[in-house]
Amino acid sequence: MKITVVGAGAVGASVADDIIRKEICEELVLLDIKEGFSEGKALDLTQTASLLGFDTKVVGSTNDYSKTANSNVVVVTSGIPRKPGMTREELIGINAGIVKNVCENILKYSKDAIFVIISNPMDTMTYLALKSTGIPKNRIIGMGGTLDSARFKTYLSLALNCSQGDLQAMVIGGHGDTTMIPLVSKATLQGVPVSKLLSKETLDKVAADTMVGGATLTALLGTSAWYAPGAAGMALVESIVRDEKKIHPCCVYLEGEYGQKDICIGVPVVIGKNGWEKIIELELNSDEQELFQKSVDAVRNMNALLQTQA
Ligand code: 2OP
Repeated sequence: MKITVVGAGAVGASVADDIIRKEICEELVLLDIKEGFSEGKALDLTQTASLLGFDTKVVGSTNDYSKTANSNVVVVTSGIPRKPGMTREELIGINAGIVKNVCENILKYSKDAIFVIISNPMDTMTYLALKSTGIPKNRIIGMGGTLDSARFKTYLSLALNCSQGDLQAMVIGGHGDTTMIPLVSKATLQGVPVSKLLSKETLDKVAADTMVGGATLTALLGTSAWYAPGAAGMALVESIVRDEKKIHPCCVYLEGEYGQKDICIGVPVVIGKNGWEKIIELELNSDEQELFQKSVDAVRNMNALLQTQA
């Protein structure tokens, strides 16, 4: 098994770090355009092997895609991250060109690769990756809902004083501050609806904190987050490599599911060795359906910018 991570910035390095600790591949390639940067990160990561106990070979590459040849899974983190006050949507012009170029180069050497897209604005970058490469839809997975759901669980666990591992909680819709939908009505603590355990005010605050989860970190850090995005990327790669068939909310191409067509947006999917293998159609209440439609409209508007800005 061979995995490539494109972009050796904070998120890319964090995904790589998490993957090698899991020992789920023989080789991990870290590729970046900045001369020597990915080689440096790869060497630094390699020097953790005896301490952390893994044997995965870590290879750095300055924009030499031949080193990524025959990768099974490719995680795309390339592009610029947002700065405080910026929305993910504002990155579209620059990141669209980068993501398109990365996907084309990867496919020259790994024609069967499954892509996990992290670059922002993630929903539009996932749609672009699909449309520009024309590869089967199941091989393009946007990582947004997995991260947003982890943030939802964090805020729920803080409110409930419980283990995050005991929570079932999901965020669907777009990966944007106003487009994501924390499904409060479906969240449970070991089967007990959280609506029975927390007041409406507290749940509203949990949902609001979840939605600006990324922006809160960007304001604190001066750039966007990396540990949780990295871990979410790793969780998807692990599900593919181990053929786990785990259900993760991910950004995938809809062809009639949830009443939508020709859009990539976050819905629960089964992740296994073929990429995303099945869409789970949840029964949404009328409020959630309305929010989902609004989210779809916003993502469609963002996709339309690909024509003018990309
Ligand atoms: C975030 O929400 C990077 O979009 C990512 O932190």
